[in-house]
Amino acid sequence: SWTPDAFVETTVAALKEKIGDDKVILGLSGGVDSTVAAVLLHKAIGKHLHCIFVNNGLLRKNEFQDVLDQYQHMGLNVKGVDASARFLDALAGVSDPEKKRKIIGKVFIDVFDDESHLVEDAKWLAQGTIYPDVIESVSVTGGPSATIKSHHNVGGLPDFMKLNVVEPLKMLFKDEVRRVGASLHIDDERLGRHPFPGPGLAIRILGDITREKVAILQEVDAIFINGLREWGLYDKVWQAGAMLLPVNSVGVMGDERTYEKCVVLRAVESTDGMTADWVDLPYAFLQKTSNSIINKVPGVNRVVYDISSKPPATIEWE
Ligand code: XMP
Repeated sequence: SWTPDAFVETTVAALKEKIGDDKVILGLSGGVDSTVAAVLLHKAIGKHLHCIFVNNGLLRKNEFQDVLDQYQHMGLNVKGVDASARFLDALAGVSDPEKKRKIIGKVFIDVFDDESHLVEDAKWLAQGTIYPDVIESVSVTGGPSATIKSHHNVGGLPDFMKLNVVEPLKMLFKDEVRRVGASLHIDDERLGRHPFPGPGLAIRILGDITREKVAILQEVDAIFINGLREWGLYDKVWQAGAMLLPVNSVGVMGDERTYEKCVVLRAVESTDGMTADWVDLPYAFLQKTSNSIINKVPGVNRVVYDISSKPPATIEWE
């Protein structure tokens, strides 16, 4: 029967055989699949694996630096590329959700193509594709390959897309990927990480995106997610996050009338993201979190909790 240890052993041997001394490029996202794919390849070919981790400026608070440190600590040959300004400048003034996704996909490809040209004589592109991505012809959860397909069907492929593709997790389901990750000693926190969308906080900021709005949402999200961890609720929830609404509402602070932003907290239970139910988080937790957000995050005077299930309400608000 299938075991993660046996999978690692045979896959590492097969990768060595297939790749030999060639150089491989891989885009890391901080997510489970790309991380497990990277560690597996690293075990097979070491420094010949060149990982690229792009900061699109839309990640969670401190996520880029924390995850980059963790990857380096794991011994991966990884380059962190802070392309925040490129993404945020391209997104300026854009409110339409699909336009945001297209812009982020396009800038990602441009940044990744520039970076991959710096790895001389690379022969392979590795991807953390898993079995469910293969069977859905167009992956819902996107990932670079899906984005690339929708943006480069005209005008020719970027060079990195012409490389040979290697996808060591292609036959695995998510739970098997996590077990392989554990067998590779990747820590539980990374393996148990909630899904996070490729376009990041861009699709949780309704309306146009500014650096100030990103900074506000990062603070709110960090209070919410850290709270879930402290209260032992993180692993009971399939995905959680906060949205920033494009409306202000009236509040009072001392004798002053305020007119500030409203944020939404959302936490769902799901198995695959296709359907989802809102989670009945303890009132005491919601109360504490709301107070802490309003007290600590300037510019926010109201917090609401989303009690809508999917369908029809998607997990993300955009
Ligand atoms: P929805 O909002 O459609 O989300 O209920 C289902 C799951 O997919 C994630 N999601 C995305 N992931 N690129 C991604 O990589 C996207 O454009 C995208 N949109 C939604 C969402 O976070 C949830 O896990």
